[in-house]
Amino acid sequence: MSEDLRDIVRREFAEAYGAEPAGLWSSPGRANLIGEHTDYNEGFVLPFAIDRRTFAAAGLRDDRVIRVGSTFSDEVAEIAIDELAPDAVSGWAAYPLGIAWALGQRSHVDLAAVPGVDIMLESDVPVGAGLSSSAAIEGAVGFALAELWGIEIDRVELARVGRYAENEFVGAPTGIMDQMASLLGQDDSVVFIDCRSEEAEAVPLRLAENDLTILVIDTQVEHQHANGGYRERRASCEAGAAALGVSSLRDVTVDELPRARELLDDVTFRRVRHVVTENQRVLDTVAALASGGPLAIGELLDASHRSMRDDFEISVPELDLAVETAQENGAIGARMTGGGFGGSAIALVPRGLVSRLQVAIDGAFAEHGYGQPVTFTVTPSEGARREA
Ligand code: GLA
Repeated sequence: MSEDLRDIVRREFAEAYGAEPAGLWSSPGRANLIGEHTDYNEGFVLPFAIDRRTFAAAGLRDDRVIRVGSTFSDEVAEIAIDELAPDAVSGWAAYPLGIAWALGQRSHVDLAAVPGVDIMLESDVPVGAGLSSSAAIEGAVGFALAELWGIEIDRVELARVGRYAENEFVGAPTGIMDQMASLLGQDDSVVFIDCRSEEAEAVPLRLAENDLTILVIDTQVEHQHANGGYRERRASCEAGAAALGVSSLRDVTVDELPRARELLDDVTFRRVRHVVTENQRVLDTVAALASGGPLAIGELLDASHRSMRDDFEISVPELDLAVETAQENGAIGARMTGGGFGGSAIALVPRGLVSRLQVAIDGAFAEHGYGQPVTFTVTPSEGARREA
């Protein structure tokens, strides 16, 4: 599939802008194996880049205008570099244009002195599925602009630029997990990230060797209040940390939860308990992968889902049904992935059981009167790269 997208994006670039692109760059979407809503609490996450990517064909212009076309819309967004500002752009174009702006804001480039750029984007990362189509855009465009504008920048700083763009230009108060996963992903590995130090390390997942795969169940549910819900959870975590006298929930351990229960109201306590136990589950997953491989992590995935469902309250009935049906039909473990309030679940599944699981999930959704989910397997893959 990726092969075709490379040709398509080149052709679309030539059609839209009447020239050949100077190069082609790409960056993947991500799924999170475990570690949810821990990134903005300076905790641990264990995501991986998936084999669905956004491709950016790009080339310099001889004026000071940026144009971006894409699969996301028929319209080509166009803006003078001097007019780049958080309120000047809305919709999907805020992601690519926010990167140009953030590179200037974070002093990687003098935006008053760079030439304009034409960009065309083509992607097979599903939008609204909780698989970070936004981080895939940011990674691909960030790589492209860095090279075209002659900026020396490492992948972690490019991830920070992406997060900055998302927080300050798009206006979404996210952590750094998605951008780090999209930029640092490696084949058959998860990326173990300490979101406090921003240190990252690839941890082998060994799926093929264990005859396993990861099935994504995209519920197709996009909750209207997802942004508000995310913001609210973040605020609860900050309130919990303040009440416990720490700068972030990273500094609370599982042993300290009984004290937290005495100090916090029930809702805040449960939000805190999710984050604190989830951090521990990430560490336990890394240890289990090293000692027993992927077959040893099922219960941790299941426990993570229960914690998001009952304590953090970010699941929805469709996600719970996807997870339960997967667990009942042979998955090693399953959980919702990403920000929650809809989107996708992942299940760690023996390869021979994939079709059976898909049929079972389709059947269960039909029985409950839910819309049909979209299910597909994903392979942990390489992060952002220059394609041509
Ligand atoms: C979204 C955000 C991430 C992270 C997850 C929840 O994907 O973009 O930064 O907070 O939700 O783990």
